[in-house]
Amino acid sequence: MTTVALLGLDLILGLLALALWAYAAVRAGASGLPWALAGLLVLLARLVTVLVLAGRGWELAAERVTVGVPLGLLAAAAAIGLLVRARRRGPTGSTAARMALWSAAAASAVSLLLTGVVGYPGGPGAAAHDHSHPGRVSVADLRTAAVGPAKKFKLTAQTQAVTLPSGRVVDAWTFGSLPGPTLTAQVGQTLEITLRNRDITTGVTLHWHGLSVPNGEDGVAGVTQDAVFPGETFVYRFRAEQPGTFWYHTHQHAREAIARGLYGALVVQPATRSTAGVDLVLPFHTIGKIPILGDSDQVQRDVVAAGTPVRLRLVNTEQQPRRFALNGAAFRVVALDGVDLNGPTEVSDQAIRVPAGGRYDLAFTMPANPVRLSVEGARQAGLVLAGSADAPEPEAKVAKATFDPTRYGSPQPVPDMTGKFDVSSTIVLDRLPRVVNGRPALAQTVNGGVYPDITPIMVAEGDLVRIRVVNRSFETHPMHPHGHHILVLSVNGRAPTGSPLLLDTFDVQPGEVWEVALRADNPGIWMNHCHNLEHATSGMMFHLAYAGVSTPFTHGPGSPNVPE
Ligand code: C2O
Ligand code: CU
Repeated sequence: MTTVALLGLDLILGLLALALWAYAAVRAGASGLPWALAGLLVLLARLVTVLVLAGRGWELAAERVTVGVPLGLLAAAAAIGLLVRARRRGPTGSTAARMALWSAAAASAVSLLLTGVVGYPGGPGAAAHDHSHPGRVSVADLRTAAVGPAKKFKLTAQTQAVTLPSGRVVDAWTFGSLPGPTLTAQVGQTLEITLRNRDITTGVTLHWHGLSVPNGEDGVAGVTQDAVFPGETFVYRFRAEQPGTFWYHTHQHAREAIARGLYGALVVQPATRSTAGVDLVLPFHTIGKIPILGDSDQVQRDVVAAGTPVRLRLVNTEQQPRRFALNGAAFRVVALDGVDLNGPTEVSDQAIRVPAGGRYDLAFTMPANPVRLSVEGARQAGLVLAGSADAPEPEAKVAKATFDPTRYGSPQPVPDMTGKFDVSSTIVLDRLPRVVNGRPALAQTVNGGVYPDITPIMVAEGDLVRIRVVNRSFETHPMHPHGHHILVLSVNGRAPTGSPLLLDTFDVQPGEVWEVALRADNPGIWMNHCHNLEHATSGMMFHLAYAGVSTPFTHGPGSPNVPE
């Protein structure tokens, strides 16, 4: 049974026990006995369920094992004992039995509230979040010095009516085009990007998703800078250190503004770059209800001669994971989140599931037949590569099987991520009633709290950090630490058997337990959040903070900065 099914089963059994006890209490007295016995059986089944859950991950069931289920069982035993006695004694015993049955029902209710309202680890954020992180270094000083040559770009944030290839017009917010222009650089180059806001009244910033830039260049409104308002500019500078596929987007009112179009791709080519072949960047996005792959809402066609090396860079800019399919050619998955995989082998008949915010690079040699890239649930958009313009369009079939990166490629040591852990941290993701931005909501919680009242993971420069992420909810959470890549140590207790996985966006699915390692090598105050930005706005954000670093920027009530 899957862990998420067990979580569901536990909920159902809890509700069923409550209903049975309540019914027995209403029927009362001696005739309630069969219902009470049924309630006891359900509780015993629940006991087995929570023990199995605890075996999969203690945080999945902690409060159920220690308090919830034992409490229910105690109350149940007492109630059944009293019922049996009441049978013998007649009417005098039946009031006591009724009371005992109601207490058993109450115990089941308490157990449900403990799990569904209090959550793990038994209370909202252990300590309120201190914005000041008293320290000697300000994030505003963690910038790239403006010396030496730089490759310069200008991005102007603006409202724009964009005519899509189908002829449909969308009212977008863009960095000049939809998506924004692809920025390209070579490893070792310094990029200088001037952001100007023409007329986005809610403000903008530029965040470089997946790039480990200095903290002051990270573009998070209210944490690393103030939002840029109409007429204002901000200049970002950083050295491109890692070759790979990245993307940029605003981090001010991110949920709304990215959806409206404030995003684009950034590709860093290796220093020794082989220019031969076709290299396409394909961010997938939905604007309004219209899916767009690359810059088209239709199936795009490119003529590519057989034998040509092809690289497709898939970027998911949406809130949900997306499954991509490549029909017509076997391919290799050569990079994930901008990091090359070791020893990639040929893949076919598998869909590629890209987490929200994640990137997958596929490579293959163009065959004689046409090849088609499609996206599940978005048939209108797609890409056809063929030797001639009039070649037939291959069918867009999405395989049932999904590519599993944890069993792909070959192992390789990652010296930087090995050694003794200096910090160990547990992050429990859940869905609990909380107050978010002053309003009650069924929030997306981290360790029982919502942003900004979540204790940050505190590190010192150089620390090796182990983070255990446990998803107790029924939703997928694409967790995204800024400024660092993490190494996957295990998923549900199983270590990856293939290539090391160095990710900046990892999908923690319902019931999953991930263990990851992170090397604290980039001082700052870093956002760490779910890249389903609906969830981020509902509380699922926290900080990875380096000791001694502080920020002069603020967000929250009274501040124009709204990072999520
Ligand atoms: Cu893609 Cu906090 O961002
Ligand atoms: Cu989430």
